[in-house]
Amino acid sequence: MINVKNLKKHYFSYDKTPVQALKGISFQIEAGEFYTLLGPSGCGKTTTLRCIAGFEDPQEGEIWIDDKLVFSSEKQVDLPAMKRNFGIVFQSYAIWPHMSVFKNVAFPLAHGQHKVPKAEIKDRVMRALKLTQLEGLADRPAPFLSGGQQQRVALARALVNEPRVLLLDEPLSNLDAGLREDMRLEIRDLSKRLNITTLYVTHDQLEALTMSDRVAVMNAGLIVQEGSSLNIYKEPASRFVARFIGVANFLEGVVSAESTNGWAEVNTPAGIIRCRPPEGAVAGNRVLIIIRPEDLIFCQDEALPDHNVIQAHLDKVVFTGEALDCKVSVADQKFRVKVHSSIAVEAGSNVRFYLPPDQCRVLPAS
Ligand SMILES: Nc1ncnc2c1ncn2[C@@H]1O[C@H](COP(=O)(O)OP(=O)(O)OP(=O)(O)O)[C@@H](O)[C@H]1O
Ligand SMILES: [Mg+2]
Repeated sequence: MINVKNLKKHYFSYDKTPVQALKGISFQIEAGEFYTLLGPSGCGKTTTLRCIAGFEDPQEGEIWIDDKLVFSSEKQVDLPAMKRNFGIVFQSYAIWPHMSVFKNVAFPLAHGQHKVPKAEIKDRVMRALKLTQLEGLADRPAPFLSGGQQQRVALARALVNEPRVLLLDEPLSNLDAGLREDMRLEIRDLSKRLNITTLYVTHDQLEALTMSDRVAVMNAGLIVQEGSSLNIYKEPASRFVARFIGVANFLEGVVSAESTNGWAEVNTPAGIIRCRPPEGAVAGNRVLIIIRPEDLIFCQDEALPDHNVIQAHLDKVVFTGEALDCKVSVADQKFRVKVHSSIAVEAGSNVRFYLPPDQCRVLPAS
């Protein structure tokens, strides 16, 4: 449905030095799929989206929308934005302040490439307002809307042309936490109900994980990992992805020549850890063990497992409602551990945690 091949884009900075914003981005989005570009500020998310929309000219690459070639550096194809069939929501919403809700949403139907007969405008606008739960606000002037309502107007305007593709650039970043959570579900639901292929851009990992069918993690102009939310969270392919998506604990070690019941053993500063090293790893290789805070198990004194038990000093315990967020020292490392709030733990004490071998993700240490 959307196919992006080897997209490269550089800008020139104020002092004329080139900024390589996209260094060769490729991805494919299936029809009806909800696909998210996730990454830190400046990694190239907005640039990618703007290239797809036709607001930026990449120097290299190819872009297909709905099986139509809309950009190709090689074939010198560059369809103007208004001829690429998509709806778009910008981070700033870009709502006209001097217009009512109705007029804002009707704007794309009354102007530009997709003009429709006047009689049809009302029907279409009311349909879009209904989808975004704004029916009652059609006549309200834009300055009299809350942040959440403005966001809905921007969404209604993006949907009013009934596009097959929806491009959303950080549409929730101006909303408060509660509203953001509601809108996450609403936008995903709308996208699925209307079967619109959706490209979503965010730097918020929770948004990406909860909304997407697939996530592409970007860093410095490149896609560094692509997969389902679960896959990206459970099997980060690098320290960068593990750290960017949620909280991760890291333990470096060296693969030893020993193994037990099919598990390799890795010598770490916290002791010997049984785990499954990456394919091809041999004794002597340095590896990085990654373990999530919720996967460490607090050990009561009785029934200690005979492996993967690490000693830790509890530096700080923070009650978060559903759990205790513990900051602990393990050898010379700082770990975060999530402990059930029914367990009595006390800052300043020495404790033990079990690292289940199958929850340890192991990568070559770089
Ligand atoms: N018009 C421009 N002129 C020069 N450099 C630019 C321009 N637009 C973007 N850049 C640079 O290109 C890189 C990618 O920018 P982009 O806006 O795509 O990042 P982003 O991932 O959307 O970040 P954010 O999360 O902050 O919105 C950054 O280094 C940025 O400074
Ligand atoms: Mg951006």
